[in-house]
Amino acid sequence: MRKSLNITALALAVVCVLGSCSGGQNENKATAVDNTVEPAVAKSEAVDENAIQLEANDQMQFNMQEIKVKAGEEITLVFKHTGKMDKSIMGHNFVLLKKGVDLAAFTQKAALAKDHDYIPADETSNILAHTKVIGGGETTSVKFTVPAQGTYDFLCSFPAHAALMKGKLIAE
Ligand code: CO
Repeated sequence: MRKSLNITALALAVVCVLGSCSGGQNENKATAVDNTVEPAVAKSEAVDENAIQLEANDQMQFNMQEIKVKAGEEITLVFKHTGKMDKSIMGHNFVLLKKGVDLAAFTQKAALAKDHDYIPADETSNILAHTKVIGGGETTSVKFTVPAQGTYDFLCSFPAHAALMKGKLIAE
């Protein structure tokens, strides 16, 4: 990044030497370059902050059955499908349920909600956080505040997946 800025400055200097540039034009150019640099830096800082990596594969598995996090903290869960299969046949999502929600009943209902990305519209009050459904090679993320201390169920709500694809989020 610094190198390209130096080259830009050098190019401007050459133009000035040739006598076709005023001091005012030079300042405008420098301001424009700064504006393009700043957002890129801010973005990379936001991604690193409190991120948890969760993966799922073509064998219908999460790579973690237990996720330990700090109660009350805001986290970003980055969810990656490491397989190759299309989301229509091996779709995965991450759904975190509130305490006391019947996992089996929720799963049955979610399987029928294909038009809503397997998130039933009348169950949203039972969900603490969820991602969209992704296919092989895709990555998505969800930002949420970890609930109060306790153990919470998470699952993939794609039809028939929760039998294998489920785990516990432990807020400590
Ligand atoms: Co799945």
